[in-house]
Amino acid sequence: MHNFQIFMIRKKALITGAASGLGLEFSRLLAADSYDLVMVDKDGDGLELAARSIQDSSGTGTEVIVRDLGENRAAEELFGEVGQYEFDILINSAGFGLFGFFAETDWQIEETMLHLHVLNLTCLTKLVVQKMIKRGTGRILNISSLAAFQPGPLMNIYYASKAYIHFFSEALANEVKGTGVTVTVLLPGLFNTNFASSAARYSGSAEKKEKIVTTTVEQVARTALKGMMKGRIRVIPGFSNKLLALAPRFLPRNFVLSALRRIQESIRKQERVSSP
Ligand SMILES: NC(=O)c1ccc[n+]([C@@H]2O[C@H](COP(=O)([O-])OP(=O)(O)OC[C@H]3O[C@@H](n4cnc5c(N)ncnc54)[C@H](OP(=O)(O)O)[C@@H]3O)[C@@H](O)[C@H]2O)c1
Repeated sequence: MHNFQIFMIRKKALITGAASGLGLEFSRLLAADSYDLVMVDKDGDGLELAARSIQDSSGTGTEVIVRDLGENRAAEELFGEVGQYEFDILINSAGFGLFGFFAETDWQIEETMLHLHVLNLTCLTKLVVQKMIKRGTGRILNISSLAAFQPGPLMNIYYASKAYIHFFSEALANEVKGTGVTVTVLLPGLFNTNFASSAARYSGSAEKKEKIVTTTVEQVARTALKGMMKGRIRVIPGFSNKLLALAPRFLPRNFVLSALRRIQESIRKQERVSSP
């Protein structure tokens, strides 16, 4: 059989943020489980490298699409390229962090974040879920964060956008009940990826490694995929993270806000600010 025909009939997953971190880990695990992949990221070199190593180790079909999902209408353009496929899985993993007082942060970076975390994630989910519902099968995994459980001074737009992903995904999970499609939202604590250093870069700070990581990227990815395959609505990897997710419900909101601000300020104090 021609290779293209093989690619058309195998299980297929669409993964954003697939060049590194969690998106790459999802790609590796799904390739090992015989999924063909469409891997999307704005980091073209990283994406090519990742796809080649996955293809070499698993023999799976991989297609790479270099796309900045922080741009206006990027999800529609992406779907224009891949809309002919029937995806069994969609994972929206691309994301980044930004520190700083809202009054001082760069609007262009925040606009990119809102396009990435909110508009394009929502649009891509809509386009894919419509096709999945027609087929009567499919799984969607959206990556939020523990940040989604409370407002976050000094990481304001990040926290607010992750709360959007959380609520949007849970409501959609409820709406698609009985269609054969499931929607899962992942709400992880900190884990070891390029996230901290990329957030520091966007924020004009010194490169930084996360020090208070509680789970590894592989643990997070495995737990998330397991939950998604079971059709769970939300997945919070790790016992301590489950407690952290619950805490804001039982503590006064103003106390939570002040505590989070103090934590962010102490992190910022430890960093050598490199921008003027
Ligand atoms: N790591 C954590 O502690 C943590 C905790 C909670 C939630 N999360 C969430 O987990 C998800 C994955 O992050 P990660 O930890 O795996 O970080 P990561 O290693 O930095 O991976 C994120 C990937 O997304 C890509 N990306 C960023 N902006 C993009 C854009 N505009 N268009 C297309 N691709 C873009 C990045 O490309 P570049 O390298 O070119 O920027 C990178 O390859 C994010 O949604 C993040 O918010 C992470």
